Amino acid sequence: MSAQVIDGKAFAAKVRGHVAEHVARLKEENDLTPGLAVVLVGEDPASQVYVRSKGKMTVEVGMKSVEHRLEADTSEADLLAVIADLNADPTIHGILVQLPLPGHLNEDLVINSIDPAKDVDGFHISNVGLLGTGQKSMVPCTPLGCLMMLRDHHGSLSGMDAVVIGRSNIVGKPMAQLLLGDSCTVTIAHSRTKDLPDVVRRADIVVAAVGRPEMVPGDWIKPGATVIDVGINRVPNGEKTKLVGDVDYASCAEVAGAITPVPGGVGPMTIACLLANTLTACCRANG
Ligand code: GUN
Repeated sequence: MSAQVIDGKAFAAKVRGHVAEHVARLKEENDLTPGLAVVLVGEDPASQVYVRSKGKMTVEVGMKSVEHRLEADTSEADLLAVIADLNADPTIHGILVQLPLPGHLNEDLVINSIDPAKDVDGFHISNVGLLGTGQKSMVPCTPLGCLMMLRDHHGSLSGMDAVVIGRSNIVGKPMAQLLLGDSCTVTIAHSRTKDLPDVVRRADIVVAAVGRPEMVPGDWIKPGATVIDVGINRVPNGEKTKLVGDVDYASCAEVAGAITPVPGGVGPMTIACLLANTLTACCRANG
């Protein structure tokens, strides 16, 4: 059996198209332009690539894009002052502080200083609590993108066994909440899980979000299961490097019913969902 490839790149382009249409309508009918501010502290090369790509796509869908690039040794007080200005700016509807932050900055404190209504990452403790209790919130972009692909592929997810590998605040935990919200039976597996292969073999849906290159082999996958690979790992490839996911694509694709590739799966959906969240924040802020 060979898995159907879930084309995240094409799906993300469709989502961005819908966002762009809605943005154009807001401009025409309400003279309103959604604005997204991205704050990057320091020079982390991977973060710089993400931030550039976010800015480009924000402009492409017709939104206002603002970037604040701060020195790696920026003080917490200065960073909090930038965020306070953005919180107060009526032309900015979404604020994203790129993680990880340099070690001297308290990530929780910084994230929780963002106005929850502008927290398009969904990382503010209020949004985490709202999601956990099934209330209207900002939903973290990567898990939201995964859920959209799963719903698109399966229709209803009700009653399916889902295993999320990884328990991060950014992906694993919110992913589990979203799957629970769609009435899956959810297991969160992690580095201390006993008999991980057997746990994964029970799953109709596997979401791998551990950040370990090609960790999940095909013989852990139940035949016909859907595999969502959140990993983006750069590994040596001869003289160069290549991107691989958290699952061993070749062997998993032989067994799975459907699978997301890396690159071109979850990654593009994350940015599309960030733009969708910014649009949502703008609409909520303006009634
Ligand atoms: N760094 C890696 N992923 C993310 C993300 O989804 N949001 C932010 N703010 N930083 C990240």
